[in-house]
Amino acid sequence: MRNKVIDLLDQTIEELDKEKIDGILEIPPKDDMGDFAFPCFQLAKVFRKAPNMIATELAEKIPASDDVSKVEAMGPYVNFFLNKENYVKEVLAKVNDTYGTQEIGKGKTVCIDYSSPNIAKNFHVGHLRTTIIGNSLYHIFDKLGYHVERINHLGDWGTQFGKLIVAYKKWGSKEAVEEKGIPELLRIYVKFHEEAEKDDTLNDQAREWFAKMEKGDEEALSIWEWFKDISMVEYKRIYKMLNMDFDHYTGESFYRDKTAAVVEELKEKNLLKESEGAMIVDLDEYDMAPCLVMKKDGSSIYATRDLAAIFYRKKEYNFDKCIYVTGLEQKLHFAQVFKVVELMGYEWAKENLIHVPYGLVSLEGGKLSTRSGNIVYAEDILKESVSKIREIIAEKNPDLKDKEDVAQKVGIGAIIFNDLYNQRIKDVTFTWEKIHSFDGETGPYVQYTYARAASVLRKTGITEVGDIDASLVTDETSVALLKEIERFPEVIKVAADRLEPSVVSRYVMGVAQSFNRFYHENQCNVEDQKLKEARVKIVILAKQVIKDALELLGIQCPEQM
Ligand code: ARG
Repeated sequence: MRNKVIDLLDQTIEELDKEKIDGILEIPPKDDMGDFAFPCFQLAKVFRKAPNMIATELAEKIPASDDVSKVEAMGPYVNFFLNKENYVKEVLAKVNDTYGTQEIGKGKTVCIDYSSPNIAKNFHVGHLRTTIIGNSLYHIFDKLGYHVERINHLGDWGTQFGKLIVAYKKWGSKEAVEEKGIPELLRIYVKFHEEAEKDDTLNDQAREWFAKMEKGDEEALSIWEWFKDISMVEYKRIYKMLNMDFDHYTGESFYRDKTAAVVEELKEKNLLKESEGAMIVDLDEYDMAPCLVMKKDGSSIYATRDLAAIFYRKKEYNFDKCIYVTGLEQKLHFAQVFKVVELMGYEWAKENLIHVPYGLVSLEGGKLSTRSGNIVYAEDILKESVSKIREIIAEKNPDLKDKEDVAQKVGIGAIIFNDLYNQRIKDVTFTWEKIHSFDGETGPYVQYTYARAASVLRKTGITEVGDIDASLVTDETSVALLKEIERFPEVIKVAADRLEPSVVSRYVMGVAQSFNRFYHENQCNVEDQKLKEARVKIVILAKQVIKDALELLGIQCPEQM
Protein backbone atom coordinates (compact mmCIF):
# COMPACT_ATOMS: atom_id res chain seq x y z
CA MET A 1 0.00 0.00 0.00
CA ARG A 2 2.86 2.28 0.74
CA ASN A 3 4.05 1.64 -2.78
CA LYS A 4 0.70 2.61 -4.22
CA VAL A 5 0.84 5.93 -2.40
CA ILE A 6 4.39 6.44 -3.64
CA ASP A 7 3.21 5.73 -7.21
CA LEU A 8 0.47 8.32 -6.90
CA LEU A 9 2.93 10.92 -5.70
CA ASP A 10 5.46 9.96 -8.34
CA GLN A 11 2.91 10.42 -11.10
CA THR A 12 2.04 13.85 -9.82
CA ILE A 13 5.42 15.28 -8.89
CA GLU A 14 7.94 15.29 -11.68
CA GLU A 15 10.69 16.81 -9.61
CA LEU A 16 11.17 13.86 -7.20
CA ASP A 17 11.91 10.21 -7.92
CA LYS A 18 10.35 7.29 -6.07
CA GLU A 19 13.26 6.78 -3.76
CA LYS A 20 13.17 10.39 -2.63
CA ILE A 21 9.44 10.20 -2.08
CA ASP A 22 9.85 7.02 -0.05
CA GLY A 23 12.31 8.82 2.18
CA ILE A 24 9.91 11.69 2.80
CA LEU A 25 6.65 9.76 3.24
CA GLU A 26 5.64 9.42 6.90
CA ILE A 27 3.22 7.38 8.96
CA PRO A 28 1.17 9.92 10.95
CA PRO A 29 0.84 9.51 14.69
CA LYS A 30 -2.95 9.67 14.66
CA ASP A 31 -5.58 7.87 12.67
CA ASP A 32 -7.48 11.05 11.75
CA MET A 33 -4.37 12.28 9.95
CA GLY A 34 -4.60 9.38 7.55
CA ASP A 35 -2.46 6.29 6.99
CA PHE A 36 0.37 8.07 5.25
CA ALA A 37 1.39 11.70 5.18
CA PHE A 38 3.58 13.56 2.73
CA PRO A 39 5.18 16.70 4.17
CA CYS A 40 5.80 19.40 1.56
CA PHE A 41 8.66 21.32 3.17
CA GLN A 42 11.28 20.01 0.77
CA LEU A 43 9.19 20.94 -2.25
CA ALA A 44 8.89 24.51 -1.01
CA LYS A 45 12.39 25.27 -2.27
CA VAL A 46 11.81 23.58 -5.61
CA PHE A 47 8.51 25.33 -6.33
CA ARG A 48 9.28 28.55 -4.46
CA LYS A 49 5.90 28.36 -2.79
CA ALA A 50 4.67 27.93 0.75
CA PRO A 51 4.39 24.27 1.83
CA ASN A 52 0.72 24.74 2.72
CA MET A 53 -0.06 25.87 -0.77
CA ILE A 54 1.83 23.01 -2.37
CA ALA A 55 -0.05 20.56 -0.15
CA THR A 56 -3.40 21.99 -1.22
CA GLU A 57 -2.49 21.84 -4.90
CA LEU A 58 -1.15 18.30 -4.68
CA ALA A 59 -4.20 17.06 -2.81
CA GLU A 60 -6.40 18.45 -5.57
CA LYS A 61 -4.38 16.81 -8.32
CA ILE A 62 -4.09 13.33 -6.84
CA PRO A 63 -7.15 11.24 -7.64
CA ALA A 64 -8.81 8.99 -5.06
CA SER A 65 -9.07 5.33 -6.02
CA ASP A 66 -10.23 1.94 -4.80
CA ASP A 67 -7.18 1.65 -2.60
CA VAL A 68 -6.63 5.22 -1.54
CA SER A 69 -10.06 6.48 -0.68
CA LYS A 70 -9.23 10.04 0.29
CA VAL A 71 -6.39 12.50 -0.31
CA GLU A 72 -6.53 15.61 1.82
CA ALA A 73 -4.32 18.58 2.58
CA MET A 74 -3.78 19.41 6.23
CA GLY A 75 -1.46 22.37 6.71
CA PRO A 76 1.83 21.53 4.98
CA TYR A 77 0.94 17.82 4.73
CA VAL A 78 -0.88 15.77 2.15
CA ASN A 79 -2.68 13.01 4.02
CA PHE A 80 -3.61 9.74 2.41
CA PHE A 81 -6.46 7.67 3.74
CA LEU A 82 -6.43 4.05 2.68
CA ASN A 83 -9.47 2.14 1.81
CA LYS A 84 -9.23 0.14 5.01
CA GLU A 85 -11.19 -2.81 3.80
CA ASN A 86 -8.97 -3.28 0.76
CA TYR A 87 -5.92 -2.83 2.90
CA VAL A 88 -7.04 -5.48 5.39
CA LYS A 89 -7.77 -7.84 2.50
CA GLU A 90 -4.36 -7.22 1.03
CA VAL A 91 -2.53 -7.97 4.28
CA LEU A 92 -4.59 -11.05 5.02
CA ALA A 93 -3.93 -12.39 1.54
CA LYS A 94 -0.18 -12.28 1.97
CA VAL A 95 0.36 -13.28 5.60
CA ASN A 96 0.47 -17.07 5.78
CA ASP A 97 2.12 -19.29 8.34
CA THR A 98 5.56 -19.00 6.77
CA TYR A 99 5.36 -15.21 6.57
CA GLY A 100 8.85 -13.81 7.09
CA THR A 101 10.67 -16.82 5.66
CA GLN A 102 12.61 -15.69 2.59
CA GLU A 103 14.93 -16.97 -0.07
CA ILE A 104 17.28 -14.04 -0.61
CA GLY A 105 20.13 -16.02 0.94
CA LYS A 106 19.56 -19.14 -1.09
CA GLY A 107 22.81 -20.71 -2.21
CA LYS A 108 24.90 -18.47 0.02
CA THR A 109 26.77 -19.41 3.17
CA VAL A 110 27.39 -17.29 6.22
CA CYS A 111 29.87 -18.39 8.89
CA ILE A 112 29.17 -17.00 12.33
CA ASP A 113 31.99 -17.25 14.84
CA TYR A 114 30.56 -16.64 18.30
CA SER A 115 30.52 -17.62 21.96
CA SER A 116 34.08 -19.04 21.84
CA PRO A 117 34.86 -19.23 25.57
CA ASN A 118 38.37 -19.89 26.81
CA ILE A 119 38.95 -23.39 28.12
CA ALA A 120 39.54 -23.65 31.86
CA LYS A 121 38.26 -20.13 32.33
CA ASN A 122 34.83 -19.08 33.42
CA PHE A 123 32.15 -18.44 30.86
CA HIS A 124 31.50 -14.86 31.88
CA VAL A 125 28.79 -12.33 31.08
CA GLY A 126 30.71 -11.06 28.05
CA HIS A 127 30.65 -14.55 26.59
CA LEU A 128 26.98 -14.67 27.33
CA ARG A 129 26.48 -11.66 25.07
CA THR A 130 28.40 -13.03 22.09
CA THR A 131 26.49 -16.28 22.56
CA ILE A 132 23.10 -14.56 22.59
CA ILE A 133 23.85 -12.13 19.73
CA GLY A 134 25.48 -14.82 17.59
CA ASN A 135 22.60 -17.21 18.12
CA SER A 136 20.11 -14.53 17.11
CA LEU A 137 22.10 -13.67 13.97
CA TYR A 138 22.08 -17.35 13.11
CA HIS A 139 18.27 -17.44 13.28
CA ILE A 140 17.97 -14.21 11.29
CA PHE A 141 20.18 -15.40 8.42
CA ASP A 142 18.59 -18.82 8.51
CA LYS A 143 15.16 -17.23 8.10
CA LEU A 144 16.41 -15.39 5.03
CA GLY A 145 17.42 -18.66 3.42
CA TYR A 146 21.17 -18.51 3.99
CA HIS A 147 23.07 -21.62 4.88
CA VAL A 148 24.72 -20.86 8.21
CA GLU A 149 27.77 -22.50 9.79
CA ARG A 150 27.73 -21.90 13.52
CA ILE A 151 31.31 -21.97 14.70
CA ASN A 152 32.54 -22.03 18.27
CA HIS A 153 36.17 -20.86 18.08
CA LEU A 154 37.11 -22.16 21.51
CA GLY A 155 40.14 -20.62 23.18
CA ASP A 156 41.78 -24.01 23.62
CA TRP A 157 45.41 -23.44 22.65
CA GLY A 158 48.19 -21.19 23.84
CA THR A 159 50.81 -20.74 26.53
CA GLN A 160 48.19 -20.56 29.28
CA PHE A 161 47.81 -24.34 29.01
CA GLY A 162 51.47 -24.78 29.85
CA LYS A 163 50.82 -22.77 33.01
CA LEU A 164 47.79 -24.83 33.86
CA ILE A 165 49.67 -28.10 33.53
CA VAL A 166 52.43 -26.85 35.83
CA ALA A 167 49.85 -25.58 38.31
CA TYR A 168 47.93 -28.83 38.20
CA LYS A 169 51.02 -30.88 38.85
CA LYS A 170 52.03 -28.71 41.78
CA TRP A 171 48.77 -27.75 43.48
CA GLY A 172 45.95 -29.69 41.89
CA SER A 173 44.37 -33.07 42.24
CA LYS A 174 42.32 -35.25 39.94
CA GLU A 175 39.53 -35.47 42.49
CA ALA A 176 39.22 -31.72 43.00
CA VAL A 177 39.17 -30.98 39.27
CA GLU A 178 36.67 -33.73 38.65
CA GLU A 179 34.46 -32.56 41.46
CA LYS A 180 34.59 -28.78 41.08
CA GLY A 181 35.34 -28.32 37.39
CA ILE A 182 36.20 -24.87 36.05
CA PRO A 183 36.33 -23.05 39.42
CA GLU A 184 39.09 -25.44 40.49
CA LEU A 185 41.01 -24.94 37.24
CA LEU A 186 40.71 -21.22 37.74
CA ARG A 187 41.90 -21.50 41.31
CA ILE A 188 45.13 -23.26 40.36
CA TYR A 189 45.62 -20.87 37.42
CA VAL A 190 45.40 -17.88 39.74
CA LYS A 191 47.73 -19.64 42.17
CA PHE A 192 50.24 -20.09 39.35
CA HIS A 193 50.36 -16.37 38.73
CA GLU A 194 50.80 -15.58 42.41
CA GLU A 195 53.66 -18.06 42.74
CA ALA A 196 55.30 -17.06 39.46
CA GLU A 197 55.67 -13.53 40.84
CA LYS A 198 58.06 -14.99 43.38
CA ASP A 199 59.59 -17.75 41.31
CA ASP A 200 60.26 -17.03 37.65
CA THR A 201 61.36 -20.59 36.86
CA LEU A 202 57.69 -21.50 36.93
CA ASN A 203 57.26 -19.53 33.73
CA ASP A 204 60.07 -21.47 32.08
CA GLN A 205 58.42 -24.71 33.09
CA ALA A 206 55.13 -23.50 31.66
CA ARG A 207 56.80 -22.65 28.35
CA GLU A 208 58.35 -26.10 28.26
CA TRP A 209 55.01 -27.77 28.81
CA PHE A 210 53.39 -25.74 26.08
CA ALA A 211 56.29 -26.55 23.76
CA LYS A 212 55.63 -30.20 24.55
CA MET A 213 51.98 -29.74 23.63
CA GLU A 214 52.96 -28.21 20.33
CA LYS A 215 55.27 -31.15 19.63
CA GLY A 216 52.50 -33.62 20.34
CA ASP A 217 53.74 -34.94 23.67
CA GLU A 218 51.26 -37.55 24.85
CA GLU A 219 51.18 -36.69 28.54
CA ALA A 220 50.83 -32.96 27.92
CA LEU A 221 48.07 -33.49 25.39
CA SER A 222 46.12 -35.89 27.55
CA ILE A 223 46.05 -33.46 30.47
CA TRP A 224 45.05 -30.63 28.11
CA GLU A 225 42.34 -32.79 26.55
CA TRP A 226 40.99 -33.59 29.98
CA PHE A 227 40.83 -29.89 30.97
CA LYS A 228 38.97 -29.30 27.77
CA ASP A 229 36.45 -32.07 28.42
CA ILE A 230 35.84 -30.77 31.93
CA SER A 231 35.23 -27.27 30.59
CA MET A 232 33.02 -28.41 27.72
CA VAL A 233 30.62 -30.10 30.12
CA GLU A 234 30.04 -26.74 31.72
CA TYR A 235 29.68 -24.82 28.45
CA LYS A 236 27.26 -27.35 27.02
CA ARG A 237 25.11 -26.98 30.10
CA ILE A 238 24.84 -23.28 29.32
CA TYR A 239 24.05 -23.88 25.64
CA LYS A 240 21.34 -26.29 26.68
CA MET A 241 19.81 -23.72 29.01
CA LEU A 242 19.84 -21.26 26.13
CA ASN A 243 18.33 -23.87 23.81
CA MET A 244 21.07 -23.56 21.24
CA ASP A 245 23.81 -25.49 19.54
CA PHE A 246 26.79 -25.22 17.19
CA ASP A 247 27.75 -26.93 13.98
CA HIS A 248 31.46 -26.89 14.82
CA TYR A 249 33.48 -26.72 18.01
CA THR A 250 36.64 -26.05 16.04
CA GLY A 251 38.68 -24.03 18.50
CA GLU A 252 42.13 -22.55 18.17
CA SER A 253 43.82 -25.94 18.62
CA PHE A 254 42.11 -27.13 15.44
CA TYR A 255 44.34 -24.80 13.44
CA ARG A 256 47.63 -25.67 15.05
CA ASP A 257 48.78 -27.71 12.06
CA LYS A 258 47.40 -25.12 9.64
CA THR A 259 49.37 -22.04 10.67
CA ALA A 260 52.69 -23.01 9.06
CA ALA A 261 51.19 -22.78 5.58
CA VAL A 262 49.94 -19.27 6.30
CA VAL A 263 53.35 -18.15 7.54
CA GLU A 264 54.88 -19.68 4.40
CA GLU A 265 52.47 -17.80 2.13
CA LEU A 266 53.12 -14.55 3.97
CA LYS A 267 56.82 -15.10 3.45
CA GLU A 268 56.38 -15.82 -0.26
CA LYS A 269 54.34 -12.69 -0.67
CA ASN A 270 57.01 -10.66 1.04
CA LEU A 271 54.78 -9.50 3.80
CA LEU A 272 56.75 -10.75 6.79
CA LYS A 273 59.21 -8.58 8.62
CA GLU A 274 61.46 -9.43 11.52
CA SER A 275 61.09 -7.40 14.65
CA GLU A 276 63.05 -8.21 17.81
CA GLY A 277 63.24 -11.84 16.78
CA ALA A 278 59.52 -12.13 16.12
CA MET A 279 57.76 -12.11 12.76
CA ILE A 280 55.26 -9.38 12.03
CA VAL A 281 53.25 -7.85 9.22
CA ASP A 282 53.86 -4.13 9.19
CA LEU A 283 50.60 -2.18 9.10
CA ASP A 284 52.06 1.25 9.68
CA GLU A 285 50.73 2.50 6.39
CA TYR A 286 47.21 1.73 7.57
CA ASP A 287 47.62 3.41 10.94
CA MET A 288 47.61 0.17 12.81
CA ALA A 289 50.03 -1.56 15.11
CA PRO A 290 51.85 -4.45 13.39
CA CYS A 291 50.16 -7.84 13.33
CA LEU A 292 52.32 -10.32 15.23
CA VAL A 293 52.37 -13.63 13.40
CA MET A 294 55.13 -15.66 14.98
CA LYS A 295 56.81 -15.34 18.34
CA LYS A 296 60.55 -15.42 18.92
CA ASP A 297 60.43 -19.12 19.79
CA GLY A 298 58.63 -19.90 16.52
CA SER A 299 55.23 -20.50 18.08
CA SER A 300 52.03 -19.18 16.59
CA ILE A 301 49.63 -16.86 18.36
CA TYR A 302 45.95 -15.93 18.44
CA ALA A 303 46.18 -13.89 15.21
CA THR A 304 48.02 -16.63 13.30
CA ARG A 305 45.33 -19.11 14.22
CA ASP A 306 42.65 -16.66 13.11
CA LEU A 307 44.39 -16.26 9.76
CA ALA A 308 44.54 -20.03 9.34
CA ALA A 309 40.86 -20.27 10.34
CA ILE A 310 39.84 -17.78 7.66
CA PHE A 311 41.49 -19.76 4.87
CA TYR A 312 40.17 -23.02 6.20
CA ARG A 313 36.62 -21.66 6.32
CA LYS A 314 36.86 -20.09 2.90
CA LYS A 315 37.99 -23.39 1.42
CA GLU A 316 35.68 -25.64 3.42
CA TYR A 317 32.47 -23.59 3.43
CA ASN A 318 33.09 -21.08 0.63
CA PHE A 319 31.43 -18.43 2.75
CA ASP A 320 29.80 -15.35 1.38
CA LYS A 321 30.36 -13.66 4.73
CA CYS A 322 32.33 -14.64 7.81
CA ILE A 323 31.06 -12.82 10.87
CA TYR A 324 32.84 -12.53 14.23
CA VAL A 325 30.89 -11.61 17.34
CA THR A 326 33.18 -10.42 20.13
CA GLY A 327 33.57 -7.54 22.55
CA LEU A 328 34.65 -4.16 21.25
CA GLU A 329 38.10 -4.63 22.76
CA GLN A 330 39.01 -6.98 19.92
CA LYS A 331 38.35 -4.38 17.27
CA LEU A 332 42.02 -3.83 16.51
CA HIS A 333 42.77 -7.54 16.42
CA PHE A 334 40.19 -8.15 13.70
CA ALA A 335 41.11 -5.03 11.77
CA GLN A 336 44.71 -6.28 11.67
CA VAL A 337 43.85 -9.82 10.70
CA PHE A 338 41.42 -8.74 7.97
CA LYS A 339 43.99 -6.29 6.61
CA VAL A 340 46.63 -8.99 6.42
CA VAL A 341 44.28 -11.21 4.40
CA GLU A 342 43.61 -8.30 2.07
CA LEU A 343 47.32 -7.61 1.67
CA MET A 344 47.81 -11.25 0.75
CA GLY A 345 45.75 -10.41 -2.30
CA TYR A 346 42.34 -11.65 -1.30
CA GLU A 347 39.94 -8.93 -2.31
CA TRP A 348 36.98 -10.54 -0.57
CA ALA A 349 38.56 -9.71 2.78
CA LYS A 350 37.35 -6.13 2.37
CA GLU A 351 33.65 -6.92 2.26
CA ASN A 352 33.20 -10.42 3.50
CA LEU A 353 35.06 -10.55 6.79
CA ILE A 354 33.03 -8.70 9.34
CA HIS A 355 33.63 -7.95 12.98
CA VAL A 356 30.44 -7.47 14.99
CA PRO A 357 31.41 -5.85 18.29
CA TYR A 358 29.22 -5.29 21.30
CA GLY A 359 29.31 -3.31 24.56
CA LEU A 360 29.78 -4.36 28.16
CA VAL A 361 27.34 -5.93 30.59
CA SER A 362 26.92 -4.96 34.18
CA LEU A 363 24.45 -5.51 36.92
CA GLU A 364 23.12 -2.21 38.24
CA GLY A 365 23.87 -1.87 41.93
CA GLY A 366 22.96 -5.50 42.30
CA LYS A 367 24.68 -8.48 43.72
CA LEU A 368 24.97 -11.85 42.17
CA SER A 369 25.47 -15.01 44.05
CA THR A 370 28.87 -16.12 42.86
CA ARG A 371 30.56 -19.44 43.38
CA SER A 372 33.94 -18.05 44.21
CA GLY A 373 35.25 -14.60 44.87
CA ASN A 374 33.97 -11.87 42.59
CA ILE A 375 33.92 -13.97 39.49
CA VAL A 376 30.59 -13.77 37.76
CA TYR A 377 29.60 -16.96 36.01
CA ALA A 378 27.06 -16.63 33.21
CA GLU A 379 25.48 -19.86 34.35
CA ASP A 380 24.75 -18.38 37.76
CA ILE A 381 23.02 -15.41 36.19
CA LEU A 382 20.82 -17.65 34.07
CA LYS A 383 19.98 -19.80 37.07
CA GLU A 384 19.26 -16.82 39.25
CA SER A 385 16.94 -15.41 36.63
CA VAL A 386 15.00 -18.67 36.39
CA SER A 387 14.77 -18.98 40.15
CA LYS A 388 13.41 -15.46 40.51
CA ILE A 389 10.74 -16.15 37.90
CA ARG A 390 9.95 -19.39 39.73
CA GLU A 391 9.27 -17.30 42.85
CA ILE A 392 7.08 -14.85 40.95
CA ILE A 393 5.01 -17.71 39.55
CA ALA A 394 4.69 -19.35 42.98
CA GLU A 395 3.32 -16.11 44.31
CA LYS A 396 1.12 -14.96 41.45
CA ASN A 397 -0.02 -18.07 39.69
CA PRO A 398 0.69 -21.14 41.82
CA ASP A 399 -1.71 -23.37 39.87
CA LEU A 400 -0.06 -22.74 36.52
CA LYS A 401 0.47 -25.82 34.35
CA ASP A 402 4.09 -26.82 33.56
CA LYS A 403 5.40 -24.26 36.04
CA GLU A 404 9.01 -25.34 35.75
CA ASP A 405 9.01 -25.18 31.97
CA VAL A 406 7.49 -21.70 32.06
CA ALA A 407 10.04 -20.51 34.62
CA GLN A 408 12.87 -21.73 32.39
CA LYS A 409 11.54 -20.09 29.24
CA VAL A 410 10.67 -16.80 30.91
CA GLY A 411 13.77 -16.63 33.11
CA ILE A 412 16.09 -17.23 30.17
CA GLY A 413 13.95 -15.14 27.81
CA ALA A 414 14.20 -12.14 30.14
CA ILE A 415 17.99 -12.20 29.99
CA ILE A 416 18.11 -12.67 26.24
CA PHE A 417 15.57 -9.94 25.56
CA ASN A 418 17.35 -7.44 27.76
CA ASP A 419 20.60 -8.27 26.04
CA LEU A 420 19.14 -7.70 22.59
CA TYR A 421 16.86 -4.75 23.21
CA ASN A 422 19.38 -2.01 22.64
CA GLN A 423 21.85 -1.60 19.82
CA ARG A 424 24.52 -4.16 20.48
CA ILE A 425 27.30 -1.60 20.72
CA LYS A 426 25.66 -0.02 23.76
CA ASP A 427 26.52 -1.24 27.21
CA VAL A 428 23.91 -3.37 28.93
CA THR A 429 23.05 -2.78 32.55
CA PHE A 430 20.22 -4.40 34.32
CA THR A 431 18.35 -4.81 37.53
CA TRP A 432 16.30 -7.90 38.16
CA GLU A 433 13.09 -5.96 38.83
CA LYS A 434 13.39 -4.20 35.50
CA ILE A 435 14.08 -7.18 33.28
CA HIS A 436 11.51 -9.35 35.06
CA SER A 437 8.71 -6.82 34.96
CA PHE A 438 5.63 -8.09 33.14
CA ASP A 439 4.59 -4.67 31.95
CA GLY A 440 7.77 -2.87 30.95
CA GLU A 441 9.69 -3.21 27.72
CA THR A 442 10.80 -6.71 28.61
CA GLY A 443 10.90 -10.29 27.42
CA PRO A 444 8.29 -11.40 29.97
CA TYR A 445 5.93 -8.69 28.68
CA VAL A 446 6.16 -9.98 25.12
CA GLN A 447 5.90 -13.60 26.24
CA TYR A 448 2.92 -12.69 28.39
CA THR A 449 1.28 -11.06 25.38
CA TYR A 450 1.83 -14.24 23.42
CA ALA A 451 0.26 -16.31 26.21
CA ARG A 452 -2.65 -13.86 26.29
CA ALA A 453 -3.23 -14.39 22.56
CA ALA A 454 -3.08 -18.14 23.11
CA SER A 455 -5.60 -17.84 25.90
CA VAL A 456 -7.99 -15.78 23.75
CA LEU A 457 -7.89 -18.51 21.13
CA ARG A 458 -8.50 -21.23 23.70
CA LYS A 459 -11.55 -19.39 24.97
CA THR A 460 -13.09 -18.94 21.55
CA GLY A 461 -12.46 -22.56 20.72
CA ILE A 462 -11.42 -21.61 17.19
CA THR A 463 -8.00 -22.65 15.94
CA GLU A 464 -8.33 -22.04 12.23
CA VAL A 465 -10.22 -19.50 10.20
CA GLY A 466 -10.70 -19.38 6.45
CA ASP A 467 -11.75 -16.26 4.58
CA ILE A 468 -13.15 -13.50 6.74
CA ASP A 469 -15.20 -10.41 6.10
CA ALA A 470 -12.53 -7.72 6.02
CA SER A 471 -15.03 -4.93 6.51
CA LEU A 472 -15.51 -6.08 10.11
CA VAL A 473 -11.94 -5.32 11.17
CA THR A 474 -11.27 -1.86 9.78
CA ASP A 475 -11.22 -0.15 13.18
CA GLU A 476 -8.13 1.79 14.22
CA THR A 477 -6.46 -0.78 16.47
CA SER A 478 -7.04 -3.71 14.11
CA VAL A 479 -5.56 -1.86 11.17
CA ALA A 480 -2.66 -0.61 13.28
CA LEU A 481 -1.88 -4.16 14.35
CA LEU A 482 -2.05 -5.43 10.78
CA LYS A 483 0.32 -2.66 9.70
CA GLU A 484 2.83 -3.94 12.25
CA ILE A 485 2.38 -7.55 11.22
CA GLU A 486 2.85 -6.67 7.58
CA ARG A 487 6.33 -5.25 8.24
CA PHE A 488 7.82 -8.52 9.49
CA PRO A 489 9.74 -9.65 6.36
CA GLU A 490 11.27 -6.22 5.86
CA VAL A 491 12.33 -6.06 9.51
CA ILE A 492 14.26 -9.32 9.20
CA LYS A 493 16.13 -8.01 6.16
CA VAL A 494 17.08 -4.80 7.94
CA ALA A 495 18.25 -6.75 10.99
CA ALA A 496 20.49 -8.90 8.77
CA ASP A 497 21.84 -5.91 6.85
CA ARG A 498 22.79 -4.12 10.02
CA LEU A 499 23.74 -7.31 11.89
CA GLU A 500 21.51 -5.96 14.58
CA PRO A 501 19.08 -8.22 16.48
CA SER A 502 17.70 -5.15 18.27
CA VAL A 503 15.81 -4.33 15.07
CA VAL A 504 13.81 -7.50 15.70
CA SER A 505 13.41 -7.01 19.45
CA ARG A 506 12.13 -3.44 18.96
CA TYR A 507 9.78 -4.71 16.30
CA VAL A 508 8.30 -7.50 18.39
CA MET A 509 7.80 -5.05 21.24
CA GLY A 510 5.79 -2.87 18.83
CA VAL A 511 3.69 -5.83 17.74
CA ALA A 512 3.02 -6.80 21.35
CA GLN A 513 2.01 -3.27 22.33
CA SER A 514 -0.18 -2.99 19.28
CA PHE A 515 -1.75 -6.35 20.05
CA ASN A 516 -2.58 -5.27 23.58
CA ARG A 517 -4.29 -2.12 22.32
CA PHE A 518 -6.28 -4.24 19.89
CA TYR A 519 -7.13 -6.67 22.69
CA HIS A 520 -8.49 -3.94 24.96
CA GLU A 521 -10.63 -2.45 22.20
CA ASN A 522 -11.91 -5.64 20.65
CA GLN A 523 -13.76 -8.35 22.46
CA CYS A 524 -13.03 -11.58 20.59
CA ASN A 525 -15.39 -14.05 22.13
CA VAL A 526 -18.57 -12.41 20.77
CA GLU A 527 -21.93 -13.90 19.74
CA ASP A 528 -21.73 -12.81 16.12
CA GLN A 529 -19.87 -15.69 14.49
CA LYS A 530 -18.58 -13.64 11.53
CA LEU A 531 -17.19 -10.91 13.74
CA LYS A 532 -15.69 -13.48 16.08
CA GLU A 533 -13.89 -15.19 13.20
CA ALA A 534 -12.58 -11.92 11.81
CA ARG A 535 -11.06 -10.91 15.13
CA VAL A 536 -9.75 -14.38 15.84
CA LYS A 537 -8.01 -14.31 12.49
CA ILE A 538 -6.09 -11.24 13.56
CA VAL A 539 -5.19 -12.84 16.89
CA ILE A 540 -3.87 -15.92 15.11
CA LEU A 541 -1.62 -13.82 12.88
CA ALA A 542 -0.33 -11.63 15.70
CA LYS A 543 0.38 -14.68 17.84
CA GLN A 544 2.31 -16.31 15.03
CA VAL A 545 4.40 -13.25 14.25
CA ILE A 546 5.25 -12.72 17.93
CA LYS A 547 6.35 -16.31 18.22
CA ASP A 548 8.42 -16.24 15.02
CA ALA A 549 10.05 -12.92 15.92
CA LEU A 550 10.94 -14.13 19.41
CA GLU A 551 12.38 -17.25 17.85
CA LEU A 552 14.70 -15.03 15.83
CA LEU A 553 16.02 -13.75 19.13
CA GLY A 554 16.38 -17.25 20.55
CA ILE A 555 13.43 -16.91 22.94
CA GLN A 556 10.77 -19.55 23.43
CA CYS A 557 7.12 -18.89 24.22
CA PRO A 558 5.07 -20.75 26.81
CA GLU A 559 1.40 -21.16 25.82
CA GLN A 560 0.29 -20.20 29.33
CA MET A 561 1.79 -17.88 31.87
N1 ARG B 1 38.19 -16.80 22.79
C1 ARG B 1 38.11 -15.41 22.50
C2 ARG B 1 37.71 -14.63 23.77
O1 ARG B 1 37.17 -15.20 24.67
C3 ARG B 1 37.12 -15.07 21.43
C4 ARG B 1 37.37 -15.69 20.09
C5 ARG B 1 36.68 -14.98 18.98
N2 ARG B 1 36.84 -15.59 17.71
C6 ARG B 1 37.93 -15.54 16.95
N3 ARG B 1 37.94 -16.18 15.80
N4 ARG B 1 39.02 -14.88 17.33
O2 ARG B 1 37.94 -13.46 23.85
